[in-house]
Amino acid sequence: MKTFNIALIPGDGIGPEVVAEGVKILKAIEEIDANISFSFTEFPWGCEYYLEHGKMMADDGIDKLKNFDAIYLGAVGYPGVPDHISLWDLLLQIRKQFDQYVNIRPITLLNDSLTPLKNRTGEDIDFLVIRENSEGEYAGAGDWLFKGKPEEVVLQTGVFSRKGTERIIRYAYEEASNSNRTLTSISKGNALNYSMVFWDEVFEEVGKEYPEVETYSYLVDAASLYFVTDPMRFEVVVTSNLFGDILTDIGAAITGGMGLATGANVNPEKEFPSMFEPVHGSAPDIAGKGIANPIAAIWSVSQMLDFFGEEKWGEIVLSTIKDLLKETEHLTPDLGGSFSTAEVGDRFVEKLRTYTNQ
Ligand code: NAD
Ligand code: IPM
Ligand code: MN
Repeated sequence: MKTFNIALIPGDGIGPEVVAEGVKILKAIEEIDANISFSFTEFPWGCEYYLEHGKMMADDGIDKLKNFDAIYLGAVGYPGVPDHISLWDLLLQIRKQFDQYVNIRPITLLNDSLTPLKNRTGEDIDFLVIRENSEGEYAGAGDWLFKGKPEEVVLQTGVFSRKGTERIIRYAYEEASNSNRTLTSISKGNALNYSMVFWDEVFEEVGKEYPEVETYSYLVDAASLYFVTDPMRFEVVVTSNLFGDILTDIGAAITGGMGLATGANVNPEKEFPSMFEPVHGSAPDIAGKGIANPIAAIWSVSQMLDFFGEEKWGEIVLSTIKDLLKETEHLTPDLGGSFSTAEVGDRFVEKLRTYTNQ
């Protein structure tokens, strides 16, 4: 029997609502499969914790998390705590401290009816965005000079190290090569005349080691256009931290919305735990209403199972999502249904049991 130790950080807003459904699915798998078990440890960190303790997580929070097999996170950030504090002191802190430098975000249309794009099917929209997740525009470096004075100047520095840039680009080439797909780099060398020129050079240099991979390179503005007008161009995409953040929300938009987008924050060397989370935030506009779509969080469970080497289960969870998406009435309102978050989770478990005959 394999036991996987999972740290739960439900976080803020709809975070706890959707994480509860992901956990429900993992518990169902544990019941069905006698060879797997999960042990959950929940951490109450987030904005409420901040309002009570003056910090987003315990002082030894990173230490507490470091021996888990994975972290499963809901969402962080809520009105009442400045976003740059809540995010930097919890979510971004974990990504950084655990060197989760690869953010894997699939842009896959799981049901043709879900795209707002005319005449597009799952055949057209099926690619992977590999987002640099440790530095770039998110380095946290900058300065605020002459605050409040007429000569006030604010600097936000993008940091692109040789190590950081090479490793993400190499990861993407490996992914493209192993799966026999094309690789597209998205950058902005025309305006960002240091960082993105460097990025483009590294993309070319590393590419020499992978002559079998067909490559493309687009400017981020044009790429945003193609995400909408011509998503068939993309198979594997590699891009910087901020561009990856923005482009994957466009990716969510063309595949059914924020309620369906997932992302894995991975430390490939497994020196530290990786973290699995939906791409969406705490959605204060719908929090507490029980109508958040839990499917993004459930897809994160599928990514987590793949990461654990339980690909069979990862695939079953993804197939069950596809099946469930055919039943509009059993989905949340964002997808045209009338089910609550918890009802979607229950329906999912029912289908999972039928699927596996249990
Ligand atoms: P958001 O993703 O929370 O919401 C954007 C829109 O998508 C809203 O209309 C919301 O109702 C909808 N939406 C999001 N998730 C949904 C779901 N599961 N089901 C149905 N609809 C869903 O983005 P925002 O409003 O810009 O940010 C809110 C807060 O979350 C901010 O504090 C922000 O910094 C934070 N945030 C956190 C994360 C994270 O923890 N990974 C990601 C993005 C934003
Ligand atoms: C995401 C989020 C985060 C990011 C924010 C909340 C810091 O938008 O994971 O996409 O920008 O990486
Ligand atoms: Mn984002």
